[in-house]
Amino acid sequence: MQKTKNITPPKHVAIIMDGNGRWAKKRNLSRNIGHKMGAKRLVDIIMHANKVGVKYLTCYAFSTENWDRPKEEVDYLMKLPLEFFEENKKQISDNDIKVSFIGFDENINSELLKTKKEIVEKTKNNKGLHFILAFNYGSQAEIINAVNNIIKDKLLVIDKEIMESYLFTKGIPDVDLLIRTSNELRVSNFLLWQISYSELYFSKKLWPDFTKSDFDKAIKDFLKRERRYGKVE
Ligand code: FPP
Repeated sequence: MQKTKNITPPKHVAIIMDGNGRWAKKRNLSRNIGHKMGAKRLVDIIMHANKVGVKYLTCYAFSTENWDRPKEEVDYLMKLPLEFFEENKKQISDNDIKVSFIGFDENINSELLKTKKEIVEKTKNNKGLHFILAFNYGSQAEIINAVNNIIKDKLLVIDKEIMESYLFTKGIPDVDLLIRTSNELRVSNFLLWQISYSELYFSKKLWPDFTKSDFDKAIKDFLKRERRYGKVE
């Protein structure tokens, strides 16, 4: 690893899409409408990230902690990816975008598991942006799961590469830029291993208000930063 000036767009951008609930509340709408608008915003950002040359985009849609939300909201969030991929699969394919998921299959209903499998299969040979949806994902659970599998495989000594090969993100480079919307300055159990050297960018915008030009602003900010990976000049 060496000191690198950012002269090209970040290869891997991750987004914590926060603020759907507050966006809806401000308009006296239900939280689920906020999530629906959030999903619309997500398509725009996926297409834009593809256009500006980002190679990997990982977005946090449902955390392992989100099961504790009201049943009506959890039910809606379980339905949302079905709608999302039904409505957008043509645009995703037409733009050569590859889709995959990180997160646990446990507790996910069979219809959603089928949708996940179908969109992954349909897009697996695409060569444009690789869009990764974090769904039923939690970083601490991911690391514990990796360690348990390492124990099952009876490995006595591991290194960074071996550890990474047990994570959901196997084969995907570390995150260069992590964006969080809604003015919350936290990482909330998202990709804790993979953001070790990421640049962090916090936007005050609520996710449904986050535009392509806000995304460009984050990239521009990234390009101004100098990454030293713990080294000195
Ligand atoms: C956090 O905002 C957002 C979520 C838990 C859901 C994120 C979902 C989307 C952006 C829609 C796209 C999803 C799919 C599956 C395509 P919040 O509800 O915590 O907002 P708040 O902090 O304002 O209450």
